[in-house]
Amino acid sequence: MLQSEVKTFQNQVVSWQKTHGRHMLPWQLAATPYAVLVSELMLQQTQVATVIPYFQRWMASFPTIEALAQASTDEVMAHWQGLGYYARARNLHKAAVYISELGAFPKTLAALLAVPGVGRYTAGAIMSFAYDSYGPIVDGNVRRLYARYFAIDGVTSSSAVDKKLWALAEALTPTDNCRSFAQGLLDLGATICKPRQPLCEQCPLSGSCQALLQNRVDELPTAKPKKLVPVKPGHFLWLAQQDKILLQKRPDKGIWASLWSLPQVEAQSPWLEDAKLHGVFVHQFTHYKLDASVWTVNTGASQVQEEVAGSWYHKDELNKVGLPAPIRSFIEQQFGLATDKT
Ligand code: ADE
Repeated sequence: MLQSEVKTFQNQVVSWQKTHGRHMLPWQLAATPYAVLVSELMLQQTQVATVIPYFQRWMASFPTIEALAQASTDEVMAHWQGLGYYARARNLHKAAVYISELGAFPKTLAALLAVPGVGRYTAGAIMSFAYDSYGPIVDGNVRRLYARYFAIDGVTSSSAVDKKLWALAEALTPTDNCRSFAQGLLDLGATICKPRQPLCEQCPLSGSCQALLQNRVDELPTAKPKKLVPVKPGHFLWLAQQDKILLQKRPDKGIWASLWSLPQVEAQSPWLEDAKLHGVFVHQFTHYKLDASVWTVNTGASQVQEEVAGSWYHKDELNKVGLPAPIRSFIEQQFGLATDKT
């Protein structure tokens, strides 16, 4: 690409952002590096509309990186519950501890990349949004936009295409108007260059978009081949006394790590031998579908409690700890409570 074409591309994105982009998102209003870190981790895999109330509650409870660093894992997980992909919350907590020990928020791309849980995208986003400095970004929106603009074939997450996209991002990202450029790319990807039925007639880049010129907008980016997801059974215990339920803190690795759940047991557990089925639910993870059965058992509650190292929680206390969304809604249904995450 010629330098003049790069400049034109940057100007088109920046001036479109200034008039048509989003300017009132809560993390834009006070774009501190901490607020950008929090919002960008929440926005990986989750829609803007879902993230907004979580972000606001988060900033009210943990207003600074030091406040987050000092919070307990249970408090942190309780604020993330319902957003899914809980590794993001644990990474954010680790990042806060690391940065708080540094004593100052890192200010360069290289120093940001050294923060645990901060990858290339998040580092670029913090440079752009918080410091208004050079910071290339490639996320799902940007992949789609570049794949169409340059008519790049191949699955955009494959390593060959990924490399190409980052090289393009490095070359196309400006050193001025950095914030507007980055926001413009994300806003164009979310509102104009949408996965389906993109609004090409409203796009500032339509004059030089290769996919549009070649009439290939619908076939780019190349669709990922669909994988069949396996179904795995899971067995959980229902032990309720009055308005209390026995919960077990999950290990700090694996699914729902560090969250509180109904105690989970192996299919071969002797407790299930004369257990009665209490209910079922299913939950779709990225890599498999969980087909859950919830059992009431004849074993005494105190024996179970001891063996699973469980704790009793009153139904009104469930908001104090992090519960996976499907477990929470199952319990709330049993207790006749309204399910309300917000
Ligand atoms: N998606 C990821 N980051 C975003 C941001 N800063 N604004 C809007 N959508 C986003």
